[in-house]
Amino acid sequence: MDLPFGIDFGGTGIKGAPVDLALGDFAGDRQKIKTPKPATPKAVAKVFRELVGRFPASSAPVGVTVPGIVHGGVVWSAANIDAAWVGTDADSLFTAALQRDVHVVNDADAAGLAEVEYGAAKGRNGLVIVTTLGTGIGSAMVHDGVLVPNSELGHLEIGGRVAEKWASNVFREQDGLSWKEWAKRLTTYYRTLERLFSPDLIVVGGGVSKESDQFLPLIAIETEIVPAALQNRAGIVGAALVASRA
Ligand code: BGC
Repeated sequence: MDLPFGIDFGGTGIKGAPVDLALGDFAGDRQKIKTPKPATPKAVAKVFRELVGRFPASSAPVGVTVPGIVHGGVVWSAANIDAAWVGTDADSLFTAALQRDVHVVNDADAAGLAEVEYGAAKGRNGLVIVTTLGTGIGSAMVHDGVLVPNSELGHLEIGGRVAEKWASNVFREQDGLSWKEWAKRLTTYYRTLERLFSPDLIVVGGGVSKESDQFLPLIAIETEIVPAALQNRAGIVGAALVASRA
């Protein structure tokens, strides 16, 4: 069967695999290529071609995560990526480059959909907020299984500061914070999300969620808060899901 393909476009690596949507998992070995520098849309399109070329030819759609706002296939923001992305019609660019139907989606939205469909929020109704703690803070808001795209809750200003410039995992490292000190910042952050949105469940993803034992129990909020289940598979699986639904 022709399986959709998922690509996770990150700051250090571009990863991809065909995805079995019945299982919510890779249907072949995930391949990884280093992100080009500078990571302009054109340079990235070339890497996508090489990546997809490593798998048997297929005409199934391709989903791609982008760490920025994605509106109707066009990238609207680039907080942590090359500025050339802003205004790029990524759906058209990649569809032409790969000669396959390509759909781009915000990275956190892809991860959020995957967690709701297959992971930590599977079967959960009401409002689920998935946050990814990495270089920035990504967010996905999913209500009764339906995504409200581009929520960008990492850019909330709290106490005059943009949240991701103070509470992301990169800032934990840069500021040399202990788990306890970081959890204090995260408590402030998640309490703000609670006050604004009254979520039913908060899911915490991003690479550091592997170490959730160290900091999740220290986050003092009322809402149930759990680690993501798909770890680094969430982006690829979520992207393929979006592509197949588009
Ligand atoms: C971007 C978001 C992205 C997040 C995680 C933020 O800086 O604005 O679009 O989801 O980083 O990569």
